[in-house]
Formats: sequence, structure tokens, C-alpha cells
Amino acid sequence: MSHNQSNVIFITGATSGFGRATARRFAREGWSLVLTGRRVERLQELAQELGAQVPVHIAALDVRDAAAVKEVVAALPEGFRRIVALVNNAGLALAPVPSQNAALEDWHTMIDTNVTGLVNVTHAVLPLLIETGAGASIVNIGSVAGEWPYPGGHVYGATKAFVKQFSFNLRCDLISTGVRVTDIEPGMAETEFTLVRTRGNQAASDALYANMTPLSAEDIAEQIHYVATLPAHININRLEIMPARQAWSAFAVHRDT
Ligand SMILES: NC(=O)c1ccc[n+]([C@@H]2O[C@H](COP(=O)([O-])OP(=O)(O)OC[C@H]3O[C@@H](n4cnc5c(N)ncnc54)[C@H](OP(=O)(O)O)[C@@H]3O)[C@@H](O)[C@H]2O)c1
Repeated sequence: MSHNQSNVIFITGATSGFGRATARRFAREGWSLVLTGRRVERLQELAQELGAQVPVHIAALDVRDAAAVKEVVAALPEGFRRIVALVNNAGLALAPVPSQNAALEDWHTMIDTNVTGLVNVTHAVLPLLIETGAGASIVNIGSVAGEWPYPGGHVYGATKAFVKQFSFNLRCDLISTGVRVTDIEPGMAETEFTLVRTRGNQAASDALYANMTPLSAEDIAEQIHYVATLPAHININRLEIMPARQAWSAFAVHRDT
């Protein structure tokens, strides 16, 4: 039995993008997987794919439902309770339009998922991480949108700014527990993210990533693996990652014509 075999990673949003790539990345290293997300068929497919390699526990979960989150964590089978890494990855952007044209419901959905959902899961899993102690990690998926404003970023960017500050504040409280906290802040990455944001507009998604090389889900999974497997005395506070083909832009100035 390899050294890592008893390590458990708990991933939210394991049905797509970064979450699914992270499941595959950690399976390669022999970690036991707790895979959660709303799309059960996808969880089953992934369990089918990785179940021959490592122990896999799947649970249908909408992170917005605090009671369901508590139940899923309470019902973790014995072999899946020694959680060494929690990846708070479930999240989404909606309403790629200016604030003044955005639907209030979309703003609420982003806050409920990216903020409330992340807090729900963190609160429920924290006792298990503290039990694991030194070397355990919470890896929160923030975004460059939490650091850098851009038109149409409105509530999405604000939720990711929350993720960053919550990560830092968690560190302050967890310092004596050995549990580490990292905010990983990706830039443009090609997943289903833009499809979700544009409500299924494949052409818009393709256009966004056209003629440049975006980050891949595997690139981010690699970074998650890196921060969660560093020696226990090291904490990466935040890791901001962009494709080489993405950078900041100039300030906007609105002039009288
Ligand atoms: N792609 C990018 O450019 C980029 C950049 C920076 C940050 N991010 C962040 O990275 C994270 C992952 O996004 P991705 O790019 O991998 O997008 P994705 O391919 O759309 O995956 C998003 C995942 O979140 C899950 N999810 C959404 N709402 C959920 C809910 N209420 N309850 C449980 N799970 C939920 C989805 O699963 P179900 O639909 O099955 O529930 C899916 O597995 C998000 O937090 C996103 O904000 C993405």
C-alpha cells in the first residue's frame, strides 16, 4: 500500500472542468476520492473510470443546500473520513452583460453558489480537516476576477474577492491546527465555464478561446496537486495563474465627444 493510499480528497464540482481533472490527477497518485456535484450521471461515469484505480465515493450535492452538505459529510463512509484536501471548486459565472442589464436572479445564483455554497462545505468539512491536522489543505478556487475588475465581472468578481479574503481569514484562525488554506486564482481556462456563463452558447465559448492557448483544466489540477502535496510546513496563500496570452489592460476613460 503506497504512502498516499489513505489520503482522501473531497472535491466539489467534480462533474466537469477543474474538478474532474483534479479527480483524475489525484487518482494517479493513489488518493481516495470523494466526488460531488449535481449531475449524478457524470459522477457515476467518473467513478466508473477511476474506481478501478482508487476508492471512490460519489455524492449528488448542490452546495447551496447547507443541510444536504452536512448530511453528505456526516454520511461519509469510514475509509473516506481522513480528508487531507478539500477542493472548493464548485462555482459559476452568469450574466456576461453590464450590471445594469443583469438579472437579479443571476446575481443571487452566483452568491448562493460561489459564496454561500463554499462556506457551507468549508464549515461541514473543517472538523475532519482539523482531525487530519498538519499537512491537510483547503484549496479554494478563486479567480483573477476577484483581484482585477473588468466590465461584466460585477457579482462574479465580487464573489471571488470573497473567496480570497475568506481564505486569508481562515488561515488566521487555523494557524494552530496545521490546516493550510490556498486561494488558487486562474485566468482564462477552457472548461464548460463559458458555456454555463452564456447559457449554452458554444460559438461564444469557442470565440473566447480562439487563436490563443487558454489554460486547461489539467493545468489547474496540476497546481491544486502542487499546493496540496507540498511539505506540511509550507502554505501557498494565493496562486494567480494566467495563460501567457492573457494580461491586464489599460484603465478605461470615458470622454466627452
Ligand atoms: N474556467 C475559467 O476560466 C475559470 C477561471 C477562474 C476561476 N474559475 C472557477 O473555477 C471553478 C470551476 O469552474 P470550471 O471552469 O471547471 O467550470 P465548469 O466546467 O462549468 O465546472 C463547474 C463545476 O461546478 C459545479 N457546480 C456548479 N454549481 C453547483 C452547485 N450549485 N452545486 C454543486 N456543484 C456545482 C458543476 O457541477 P454540476 O453542474 O454537476 O453541479 C461543475 O462540476 C469555478 O469556481 C469557477 O468560478 C474558472
